[in-house]
Amino acid sequence: MTDPSRFLAGRRILLGVTGSIAAYKAGEVVRRLREAGAEVRVIMTAGAGEFVRPLTFQALSGHPVHRDLLDEAAEAGMGHIELARWADAILVAPASADFLARLAQGRADDLLAAVCLASAVPLAVAPAMNAKMWASPATADNVRTLGARGVVLLGPDEGPQACGDTGAGRLLAPETLVARFGELFASGLLAGRRLVITAGPTREAIDPVRYLSNRSSGKMGFQLARAAAEAGGQVVLISGPVSLETPPGVERVDVESAQEMYEAVLAALPGTAIFIGAAAVADYRPARPAAAKIKKTAETLTLELERTPDILAEVKARRPDLFCVGFAAETDDLERHARDKLVRKGIDMVAANRVGPAAPEAGGVFGSDDNALHLFWPGGEASLPLASKARLARQLIEHIATRLEAFHAARPEPAKVVPLGGTTTAGMQEVE
Ligand code: PMT
Repeated sequence: MTDPSRFLAGRRILLGVTGSIAAYKAGEVVRRLREAGAEVRVIMTAGAGEFVRPLTFQALSGHPVHRDLLDEAAEAGMGHIELARWADAILVAPASADFLARLAQGRADDLLAAVCLASAVPLAVAPAMNAKMWASPATADNVRTLGARGVVLLGPDEGPQACGDTGAGRLLAPETLVARFGELFASGLLAGRRLVITAGPTREAIDPVRYLSNRSSGKMGFQLARAAAEAGGQVVLISGPVSLETPPGVERVDVESAQEMYEAVLAALPGTAIFIGAAAVADYRPARPAAAKIKKTAETLTLELERTPDILAEVKARRPDLFCVGFAAETDDLERHARDKLVRKGIDMVAANRVGPAAPEAGGVFGSDDNALHLFWPGGEASLPLASKARLARQLIEHIATRLEAFHAARPEPAKVVPLGGTTTAGMQEVE
């Protein structure tokens, strides 16, 4: 079974719980979704409230449970439209026969049905009901109708039921349910593509104990690596010093200085189709780092700095066939600087973000979990408003996958890679 955190980390999941004896298992579903890194909000129908207390879900999800469609206080806070907009995906588990029927009819007579109707995000239902209700032609019709509209069916399982019958109608085991739900996000957009992504700061030695660096935490680059792997890409993440866990399925190379990052990137390029420079690489380093600790003898100290290699520009110059994405971190005049980088470095896309005090809405960006990006490419642009870096990374990967097609339409595509034996990213084999 796939590790669900690979697809669910950072996702906003709306869990609908309806009136079925299996409602008590939904608590375990919430727990597993959160373990996989998802943020979970729960909507309970009136029927669900007959089986489980809302407090259970409030405690497990860490958020108040939503129950009423026509509750003035709730609508003033996070109302049904707001909930529909908030979610990245909706999972209804357990989904009773009655709820499937109401969903198939497009009813909006309770909060959960109204949110499902008002939302355009992926919707999955995990039925749980008596075996005869599941086998009834009416339920079968409803399920067919929902399937034709793109609603994903997860389960049901077969086996002994609470009512004493045996057959199909059990809720899938929460572990299986969450793993299969996570797989809905496996887009395959970058399947067979190798990507090299840089992240984090670099450290430039002044002497054996001191260095020049910057405020990058690596979060943006690590989320990009995660999103690219989730989209099926084979990702090499070259990171400066950060304290972040390696995303699942990603090959990581740790470096310290700009020079080390440069060398690691060049070594990783064979077979690569996409390069993304999210690292905040030092532009200058001490020209002559001291071999021993500099002593505090003089009143002032002057450091002579020299330029570091421009990794992004160098990659594009050496490999024009690579789709190269750079970042632009600017405190002012974002668009002008970003467009200038696009042209000067000859790259294919720039993701511009405002940093420092000019970006208070994103907590200054460095180290924050949120960001806002503006993308520029030759002949186009797109705005990705303030959101979690996880969500922005997925959006950026989608834009890259789309632009990549136009890029390859204009020039021959580099070879795709497949892992030898199909399991590791080490020892790739090039194929036509
Ligand atoms: O790490 P976080 O805390 O999550 O913060 C995210 C971020 C702000 C670091 C990230 O979103 C970002 O903007 N990264 C690029 C920061 C940067 O160095 O920008 P720049 O405008 O100075 O550089 C432009 C581009 O050239 C970047 O893609 C950079 O990786 C690349 N570059 C710069 C210098 C150099 N010597 N070599 C390079 O490849």
